[in-house]
Amino acid sequence: MTPCSLSVSLVLASVAALWATAGQAEGDKEPAPAFSEDFLAAPANIEAGKEMWKEQCRHCHGRAAYPGKAPKLKPRRYKPDFVYDRVTNGFRKMPAWKEVYDREERMKIVAYILSKDFSP
Ligand code: HEC
Repeated sequence: MTPCSLSVSLVLASVAALWATAGQAEGDKEPAPAFSEDFLAAPANIEAGKEMWKEQCRHCHGRAAYPGKAPKLKPRRYKPDFVYDRVTNGFRKMPAWKEVYDREERMKIVAYILSKDFSP
């Protein structure tokens, strides 16, 4: 190996190490699933999401809770990944639901919030 190719491989090795640590920092955050149009539009998913919304979310985000506990949701501004992340991991005073609802259930909540049926 020439000195030059040695330093190239050293650089490559440290880039690889950096990548590995970046991956670890994200490690406790679940990546968002892929939301297909079909999943988001399926009436059964929207209906299931609505039930969970009524049980767990409405008392903070619902019409009757205003003003105060939580912001009014603005579904038209959200991408599925954003809603999924907030529901999964929480944010400041927004509780996390990953211990309460499995991945599929959280995806159904997202489908409901982004559906035309959504009503806070
Ligand atoms: C204890 C009250 C509470 C409950 C219960 C709650 N939330 Fe929240 N939620 C909040 C608060 C407070 C915020 C604002 C967090 C911030 O941005 O500081 C929030 C933020 C959000 C946001 C992001 C809104 C935005 O525009 O930034 C979404 C989406 C959301 N909640 C969905 C839900 C869903 C779905 C549920 C039920 C599974 C739920 N929340 C249950 C309090 C609550």
